[in-house]
Amino acid sequence: MTHGGQRSYGPLGDVLVIIPTYNEADNIAPVVERARAAVPAAHVLVADDNSPDGTGKLADELAAADDHVHVLHRRGKEGLGAAYLAGFRWGLERGYGVLVEMDADGSHQPEELPRLLHALKGADLVLGSRWVPGGRVVNWPRSREFLSRGGSLYSRALLDVPIRDVTGGYRAFRAETLRGLTMDAVASQGYCFQVDLAHRAVRAGYHVVEVPITFVERERGDSKMSRDIVAEALWRVTAWGVEGRVKRALGRRHT
Ligand code: GDD
Ligand code: MN
Repeated sequence: MTHGGQRSYGPLGDVLVIIPTYNEADNIAPVVERARAAVPAAHVLVADDNSPDGTGKLADELAAADDHVHVLHRRGKEGLGAAYLAGFRWGLERGYGVLVEMDADGSHQPEELPRLLHALKGADLVLGSRWVPGGRVVNWPRSREFLSRGGSLYSRALLDVPIRDVTGGYRAFRAETLRGLTMDAVASQGYCFQVDLAHRAVRAGYHVVEVPITFVERERGDSKMSRDIVAEALWRVTAWGVEGRVKRALGRRHT
């Protein structure tokens, strides 16, 4: 449990940047290179779902040339949530103190990572945020901005989380924070995984801080956002919201 700034936080420890990939052949080398340059001490883990376009093989080549780069090959496309859970497990087993989530397509600028890590010195979880003052998106179609803002607003209202950008995917977790969340019960497959973890962290009483970021829409490759991902997010967030309300009405504590 934390109470604002009254707690003292331990040193951060080694940083692992987890980059999930599915068909990111044109993006993987530049993003890994940028991450390595932005925070030279950090390690990078590419979590690839056996991309048909050969992203995994390209990642292997990067790993062969740089002992700070690692690859987690997964069987097939099982969703963002599953890839991150496997990546977190990989990093926690190896003793990293900080686990970072970052998209492969350049939308999350590695150059902003030092700011996230700096904020994590006084927090349990730092969220890169598009929807706080100073945050913004570049080159997003109106429809996509509407979906993201709407998704955040809906989640915020239903789940009672005081977070502006609940769906964002540029984040830095302390290892202790991830260990403290009951990850075994995380069933979210798609992007609602992000809402799920933010919600769990707030409920568990962790100190969550939003840092403004500039999200730059990808120039190469395709978004994996789909109707199914939106549908999953909508029904899960609604179910969590209803569950929370019922529990509160019955006077029980959240777990
Ligand atoms: N391993 C793996 N498996 N990686 C995946 C999968 C999957 O099933 N689906 C997507 N990814 C990877 C992509 O390759 C990319 O690196 C990252 O996850 C984000 O995917 P995008 O398809 O580029 O997401 P987006 O730009 O539409 O969505 C962004 O906004 C969402 C809503 O705010 C991301 O930042 C999401 O994290 C965020 O939830
Ligand atoms: Mn993207």
